[in-house]
Amino acid sequence: MKIIEFQTSAIAEFPFLNAGRGPGQFYEDRIPVHRARVDRLPDGVAAIVATADLQGRERFQESVGGSLRLLGEVLPQRLVSEVLPSLGIRGSQQVGVFLAGDFYTVPALDQRGGTGDVTSVWQAFAESFTWGAGVAGNHDTFGDPPQRRPRLPSWMHYLDGDSVNVAGLRVAGLGGIIGRANRINRRSEEDYLATLKRLIEARPDVLLMHDGPDGSQTAQRGLPRIRELLIESGMGLVIRGHAHWDQPFAEFPSGLQVLNVDGRVVVLTT
Ligand SMILES: [Fe+2]
Repeated sequence: MKIIEFQTSAIAEFPFLNAGRGPGQFYEDRIPVHRARVDRLPDGVAAIVATADLQGRERFQESVGGSLRLLGEVLPQRLVSEVLPSLGIRGSQQVGVFLAGDFYTVPALDQRGGTGDVTSVWQAFAESFTWGAGVAGNHDTFGDPPQRRPRLPSWMHYLDGDSVNVAGLRVAGLGGIIGRANRINRRSEEDYLATLKRLIEARPDVLLMHDGPDGSQTAQRGLPRIRELLIESGMGLVIRGHAHWDQPFAEFPSGLQVLNVDGRVVVLTT
């Protein structure tokens, strides 16, 4: 799957509360939704939604009582009811989702980078979309104990150094980050690179990563070694999160394309 046009201006924006660095320091932020055209989607699939790093919560005026819901718990339904119809996509059509990790924010919104259970976010995407594939971020757990494998609906494919054939697409996924392997969602550099090589040798149509390659501009932060490996191997489309890029799309002469969906939503259509 190849992106043939990335539209830099957002087609929609949703307000949410972003965490601050202390009590009461949260603030209203907006998550943009972009559209990108791809050369092909599997038969019967009208769109694929890609997102990562939804590290925020709903605003008080949208709350239904209790603690504020995670942004990723409320966003799927709003995408289905407000954004997809504007692209001519009807509720009866199949829409998939790619999740590139980091969907947790502490309930009090007084700490950035909190770690917690994101099962409810994956469940919300499962309820709104036909199928999904994704990876964990470095801050995601799936209940207790923190090392527990996710328990998700059968149409949601959690990838952790493995791949899945979904709707005719070969999707590989490598979550977490490079770090001390005794911490959750970390692999040693050696393990991370070996797993990545094994995944790309199988020539997936799409590779989902949490951290990942840098882009073609210096502000597109990431791991140069990963970018070199992906270029050498002839990899095509990589969708990543973890580091925010103001310009979220990068392309290389080798055919490598990097779409960074940190703090944004990109709707892939033909
Ligand atoms: Fe992250």
